[in-house]
Formats: sequence, structure tokens, C-alpha cells
Amino acid sequence: MRHFHFKDGQMQAENTSLQAIADDIGTPCYVYSAATFTRHYRVFADALDGMDSLIAYSVKANSNLAVLRVLAKLGCGADVVSGGELLRALAVGIPAQKIVFSGVGKTSDEMRAALEAGIYQFNVESLPELEALNELALDMGMVAPIAFRINPDIEAGGHEKISTGKAENKFGIDINVAPKAYAHAQNLSGIKIQGIDMHIGSQIDSLAPFKAALSKLVALVKTLRRDGHTIDTLDVGGGLGIPYRDDENAPPLPTLYGQMVKEMTKGLDVKLIFEPGRMIAGNAGVLLSKVLYVKTGSARNFLILDAAMNDLIRPALYGAHHDIEPVSQPPKNAPLQTYDIVGPVCETGDTFATGRQLATLKAGDLVAIHSAGAYGAVQASQYNTRPLVPEVLVDGERYALIRKRPSVEEILKTESIPDWV
Ligand code: LLP
Repeated sequence: MRHFHFKDGQMQAENTSLQAIADDIGTPCYVYSAATFTRHYRVFADALDGMDSLIAYSVKANSNLAVLRVLAKLGCGADVVSGGELLRALAVGIPAQKIVFSGVGKTSDEMRAALEAGIYQFNVESLPELEALNELALDMGMVAPIAFRINPDIEAGGHEKISTGKAENKFGIDINVAPKAYAHAQNLSGIKIQGIDMHIGSQIDSLAPFKAALSKLVALVKTLRRDGHTIDTLDVGGGLGIPYRDDENAPPLPTLYGQMVKEMTKGLDVKLIFEPGRMIAGNAGVLLSKVLYVKTGSARNFLILDAAMNDLIRPALYGAHHDIEPVSQPPKNAPLQTYDIVGPVCETGDTFATGRQLATLKAGDLVAIHSAGAYGAVQASQYNTRPLVPEVLVDGERYALIRKRPSVEEILKTESIPDWV
């Protein structure tokens, strides 16, 4: 459910007009709805009712401090993949005991910071990483609680670039060598084995791959326990898809996902860890942009926006679909035009959509690019020396700038010219 709707012909985020935000903050900017984050968290938490579980929101999806604080206040934990994300989670008050640390390339500084903070679990992705963590923990006189991320060799995910559970991907430990890896970890005194982990991909639109992967992991838990290991946690990762448009192939609802996990893990007596990212954040945000020019070409009509691929890279990178809608609701029978919707960056890849039918728009009109709350602002860059896109959080009738737009002077100040040039 999106809290972006029309009132008196104008699109609002909750009870705040997007036009008013654009007038105040300028465009392009991301606009998030606090109520939507809250609702998605609650829907997910309700779907896990009755299970011993930890929701560790995947910070990478949207890591703005204000967003994290909204989730922290609801009791949410965090899945982090860098020292930076760890600092963010701690800064908003997420207890260390609700933080898990994933990722194939944790540095020793990052692992040290996580040990010092006392996080709940390291999701270890390789034997060399295990050795490094063990040495560090021994050095610090500590013991690191770990789960191995298991690669179950399952095809999943909305796009080849975000599929992670196949044997040829760089992630996790091959399920066939897992018993050996656990046996090895058992001998390391800086390591405490506490669980098992997986994450098979993102924007997954059916339960089948989750089910297939989970059934392999459940069998492995039993084997590992028979081998004498303590397996108290089962981290099922993230990956549940969201609807990017109204269509019959919408991903399964969280309730069905929750039921499936419950059934698959019945009687296993583990604490379940979930790492949802997109499901919480995706439909909680729009990218608000202004039409700069309408260019009528010989073959196509172009809507040239002031937002570009550096602000939202998903269409260029993954061919992702985002609904795009005028902020001023057109009259019911307004004639439609077919547009290619593009940004100002000097590459053909800077295209948000092709052949979209929209009411006739003109320079100065605002559009909302929907479902941009996850993997939007976090993947933004300053390509073409376009200042990093600002972010705004709405709560009912109030809103606040939660990341400001840097000035070009500030950007230039971070660079220097050596005196020998
Ligand atoms: N846990 C781990 C270990 C992950 O790597 C990810 C996402 C998640 C959880 C959260 O997955 P989610 O619930 O959001 O599907 N930039 C891409 C998505 C990359 C996902 C990377 N890993 C996109 O814009 O579609």
C-alpha cells in the first residue's frame, strides 16, 4: 500500500502536497512516507507472528538515518554490509544485539568495529574470512558469534545482477562443503558457531525458490546438529519482491511468505532472522522530478526530466520498470501522448522509460517516479557533477529535509589539485 494519492487533483505524500515540497526543496528529490515504512514493517512483523524471530532490515535498501530511526523505534534490527552501515544502525539506536553483518568482503577494521559493538551475528561467507575473524577475535580476547552463509544453488531473483543463490555466484559457502566448514570452525577458539544463513536474491516474485532453498537448509541444520554443532539461528535473508506495477504476477504477500517459512521450519526450534530491504522501503518513496523540456523528435516524443540515471539508476542498470505519473491529476478524458522519459545525462542509457502513455505534459510539470524508496537514493552518484539528490521524509502534514542537496562549491571543495600539476 502506498501513501501517495491524489487530493483535489494533486498528488500527496500522506497529507503533504508534492508540489509544496518541490517549491520548497527543489527537484529532483526523493520523498518518503514515514507511515508507509511503518505499515510495511508492521505487515511483515504480523506475518511472522508466533515465530521466534528477528527482523534485521537490510540497511542497504535505504540507509538514511531518519528512515532507520523510524524503523528502530518500531523495534527493528539491522542487516549491515559495511562498517559505514554498522555506524548508521548504531547511531539511530538499533541495539547491537539486533545487528547481523553480511557481505563477502568484510575488512579487519569493519570486523573489529562489529566485535567491539557486540553485534548479534557475523554471516561468514568464506573460510579465509573465518580465519581472519578468528584471529581478530583472539587478538581482542573475544569470541565472534557466526553463521555460515550457505549457497544453496537455487535460481532466484528478478534480474541476473541481483541473483545470488546460484553456485556460480560469489556468495556464501557451497552447500556440499558446509559440513566441513562447520567442522573446521568448531576448532577455532575465537569463533562460536550459532547458526546458518542464506540470501538467494532480490525482487523474487514467487515462493518456490525460497521454499527450495529453505528445504535444503533445514536438512543441513539437521545434519549439522547430528555432527554435534549448536545451530540456534536460521537467517533466511531478504529478497521478497514488491509490486512495481499493477499486474497479476505481483509477488506473494508477506503473510503467505511468513506462512511458508513457518511450515518449512516447523519443529526445528531455531530463532529465525529475516533481512527484508525492498519490501519495507520500495513503495515508501517516490523520486519527484520536473519536466525540463518536451522534445518532439521525428521518431519519438521525449519528456526530458531534471532527474537522471545518477539519481535513480535502476532502469539503466537492471532495465527496471518504475511507474511514472504526473503530480497534477489530468482530467479523466485527457488525450494521451506516448513519451520516452529521459534525463539530462549524456548517455542513451539515461532513460527511465520508453513508449509510456501519459496525459500531455509541458515544461515545468512535476512527475512522480514511483517505487523508488529502495535502492534509489542509496545508489545515487554525482555523475556529470550533478549534486547528490536530496531526501525528504513526510509524516502526515509535516515534512523535513533528511539529506540536503550539496552545492557544487561543496563538491568541488572535496577535490584538490597537487601543486606539481
Ligand atoms: N540480505 C543480503 C545479504 C542482501 O545482499 C540483500 C540485498 C538483502 C538482504 C535485501 O534484499 P531485498 O529484501 O531488498 O531484496 N540494487 C538492486 C538490489 C540489490 C540487492 C542486494 N542485496 C536493485 O535495485 O534491484
